[in-house]
Amino acid sequence: MGSYVKLAKRAVETEMPIMVQVGDMLRVVWVNYLDDTGIGPRSEKCLVLGPGLGFPFLMFLYAVILYCIKYYINGGIENMEHRTYFFRNKDLFGADLKDFLHSKEVVYPFIALEMEEICWQLIDLFHVVQGVVYWQPPKQALNKVKELVWEPSISRYGADEGIPELREALMQKLRKENKLVNSSVMVTAGANQAFVNIVLTLCDAGDSVVMFAPYYFNAYMAFQMTGVTNILVGPGNPETLHPDAAFLLISDWLARTLSEAKPVPKVVTVRISDLCREAGSWLIVDNTYEYFMYDGLKHTCIEGDHIVNIFSFSKAYGMMGWRVGYIAYPSGVEGFQTQLLKIQDNIPICASILSQHLALYSLEMGPEWVTKQVKDLVKNRDLILEALSPLGEGAVKGGEGAIYLWAKLPEQDVDDDKVVRWLAMRHGVVVIPGGACGCPGHLRISFGGLTENDCKAAADRLKRGMEDLVNNGMVEWR
Ligand SMILES: Cc1ncc(COP(=O)(O)O)c(C=O)c1O
Repeated sequence: MGSYVKLAKRAVETEMPIMVQVGDMLRVVWVNYLDDTGIGPRSEKCLVLGPGLGFPFLMFLYAVILYCIKYYINGGIENMEHRTYFFRNKDLFGADLKDFLHSKEVVYPFIALEMEEICWQLIDLFHVVQGVVYWQPPKQALNKVKELVWEPSISRYGADEGIPELREALMQKLRKENKLVNSSVMVTAGANQAFVNIVLTLCDAGDSVVMFAPYYFNAYMAFQMTGVTNILVGPGNPETLHPDAAFLLISDWLARTLSEAKPVPKVVTVRISDLCREAGSWLIVDNTYEYFMYDGLKHTCIEGDHIVNIFSFSKAYGMMGWRVGYIAYPSGVEGFQTQLLKIQDNIPICASILSQHLALYSLEMGPEWVTKQVKDLVKNRDLILEALSPLGEGAVKGGEGAIYLWAKLPEQDVDDDKVVRWLAMRHGVVVIPGGACGCPGHLRISFGGLTENDCKAAADRLKRGMEDLVNNGMVEWR
C-alpha cells in the first residue's frame, strides 16, 4: 500500500509516465489534470499497473491510486479526469507499449532517460544512478531566499554573466580556495550549461577533441550535439581508471594523438596541461566535485591561458534543481568573454536570479558547511564497496573522490546494458551501464544520493544481485 501511495505521489510530481512491472497484461492509466478554465490539460500523467494479483485486486489498487492522487496528494483537485487503456503484451519493452508511449511524445533518447525508463517501470527501486546528493541547501540560505520572492528584481532578467554580488563572492572564493588569480567568472545554469557554453565558444563543427574514459556522458553528448563528432577517447590507467598523466606519458598516447590528429584537437578534458599547451589545445577541467575528496586527499586547480575551469553548486550545496554553476575562464585571452556572452545571451540570458541569490547565501556558509555534509559519504562508499565484493578483488575502482564507484563485470556477463536492466527487474536496484561513460563491461554506481539507511538497503540488494550474477549468471527474470 505504501508503495502505491509512493507511486501516486511520483505520478503527481513527475512530468513523465510511471510504469510498474507487469505480467502478461498491462493496464495503462493516463490521468489528466485540467487547467483552471477546465478546457485544456494542465498536465498529463500515466500510470501502468500490472496484474498477476487477480483482476478484483487490481481494481482495488487502481481505485487506491486515483484516490491518492485526488485527495491525499493533490488536496482534492476537482477537475481531474482519467482514461484507461489495456494492453496484452508479453514483452515489457514490446512494440505496443513503446508505440503507445511514443504516440504520447515520450522519447527516451539518452542514457539518463533510458535509466528513468527503467525506473518508471518499478515502484520499489533503490537508485544508485544519478550523480546527486541526498542533502538540501543550507537551511539559513533557503530561509533568506524565501524572503526575496516578492522583490521585483527577482523576476527580471539579470546581467548575463551573473548578479554582481555573486560574481564578486565567487572571484574571492576562486582566489582564496582555488588559487585562481587570473580568471574571470560567468555564472551559468549549472555545470552542464557551462560545458555547452565552452564547447560553443571554442569548437566548430568538424573539430576534434579528446576525452578520457570513464567520461561524463553529458559532456560527450555536448560535443556530439554541436557537430564535434571527432571525439578521440583516451585510455584510463587500467589500475585506477584515472587519466593518469604519468601513464599517458609512458604510453605516449596523448602526445601522439595530439600531434597526429588532423585537425589538432581543440579540447582535451583532462589535466594534461603542458601537453595541451604545447599542442595548442584547450584544456577543460570540470571541478564539480571539488569538495568531494576522501581519505585525506585534496583537490587543487590549475590555471593558464589555455585552461577553462568549470564549477557547480549542484552537489556541494544540494542545489541540483536550482541550476547554478560557473565558468572561470582566462581573463587575458582576447575575445573569450565576448564569445561566451554571445552564447549566454542567446540561450539562458542569465541563470535564474532567485537561484543565484540562494547560491550567494549558500556560499556565505563557507566550505566547512559542505565538508561536513560530504564527510559522511565515506560510509555510503564503504557500504557499496562491500556490496560489490562478490565481484572479486580488483574489480572495483574509483571512490577516492566524487561519488562514483566503477565495477568490472564478470567475463560471462559483460553486457552492462543487460546487467543494468536485470539488476533493476530482478533485484530492484538501478545503476548506470559503464558503456554510457566509455567503459563497457562496467557498472557505475553513485553513492551520493541516498541517506545512510537507504544506502544500506540499496547495498543489500546490490550485494544479492552481485552474488546472484557471480554464482548463477544473468538468468531470465520474467
Ligand atoms: C562530472 C559532472 N559534471 C557536471 C555535472 C552536472 O552538474 P550541474 O548540475 O551543475 O549541471 C555532473 C552531474 O552529474 C557531473 O557528474
